[in-house]
Amino acid sequence: MEIIKRTPQMKALAARLREEGHRIGFVPTMGALHAGHMSLMQRARQMSDIVVVSIFINPIQFGPSEDLDRYPRDLAHDAEICMSRGVDYIFAPLIDEVYPENFSSYVIVEGLSDRLCGASREGHFRGVTTVVSKLFNVVKPHFAFFGRKDAQQSVIIKRMVADLCMDPEIVVCPIVRDEDGLALSSRNVYLSAEERQAATVLHRSLEKVQVLFGAGTREAAVLQAAMEELIATEPLVRIDYIEIVDTRDLEPVQAIEDGRPVLIAVAAFVGKTRLIDNVVLNGEI
Ligand code: PAJ
Repeated sequence: MEIIKRTPQMKALAARLREEGHRIGFVPTMGALHAGHMSLMQRARQMSDIVVVSIFINPIQFGPSEDLDRYPRDLAHDAEICMSRGVDYIFAPLIDEVYPENFSSYVIVEGLSDRLCGASREGHFRGVTTVVSKLFNVVKPHFAFFGRKDAQQSVIIKRMVADLCMDPEIVVCPIVRDEDGLALSSRNVYLSAEERQAATVLHRSLEKVQVLFGAGTREAAVLQAAMEELIATEPLVRIDYIEIVDTRDLEPVQAIEDGRPVLIAVAAFVGKTRLIDNVVLNGEI
């Protein structure tokens, strides 16, 4: 495994690999790697000859009051994880090469980027789509792997790729959870023991919705109220939003109709840490 920090070097390597007929699988990350990221690497390993993982904490997707400064960083540990998963290359670009002075071009997916997490994190998805476009141009992947944990991000990336005729096929992978159901996240390290326990209510609320759905409940308002009621039992948890939307356009649905894939997404602050989780009914993203 090789760690590449220079963008021109990564570009040249990717071009050569393509020329030689290799299928490049790409997993973009911000590091602080955990089993969720590993599941993407594993899927990439199955589908591609060459696996590239990028590690880049993208400053432009963080808001001014967010956790950019304290976001966990440990390249040596991340490299060990990548090695153990059979990754061929880590691309860890230099900040000045990603955002040189006078950088002024952005990729914006309108509409989809303003809803759900976009409403409480202004400019976040503009940062994500811009950096992912740049990474795609450098790594030139045949496949790119994203987690359904960030469901809205996956929907937006898919739309961007379709709208802008980009090459990579987007593969969305399932959510990896801890034993108690909490979705793995690089931000879970911020949680105190008490908060960690309280945070499981997000997953429990989604399980409750699935049980109600299984028993025939279809009205979005009823499902949402059931989630709110359960989450309210944890005083350390404050809901940012609960949304029940069509997976394709992220528009709210009144009722869950047969055959229409629906995303039920929740974002909440547990103490100061903002966490997200979701479930998809009637299909996938
Ligand atoms: P990051 O939060 O590091 O996540 C990288 C990828 O891992 C994303 O596709 C995310 O959905 C996936 N992932 C995270 N937790 C997961 C879990 N518990 N189960 C399955 N997949 C999981 O998402 C980003 O970085 C950035 O926005 C990025 C796309 C790299 C652009 O900067």
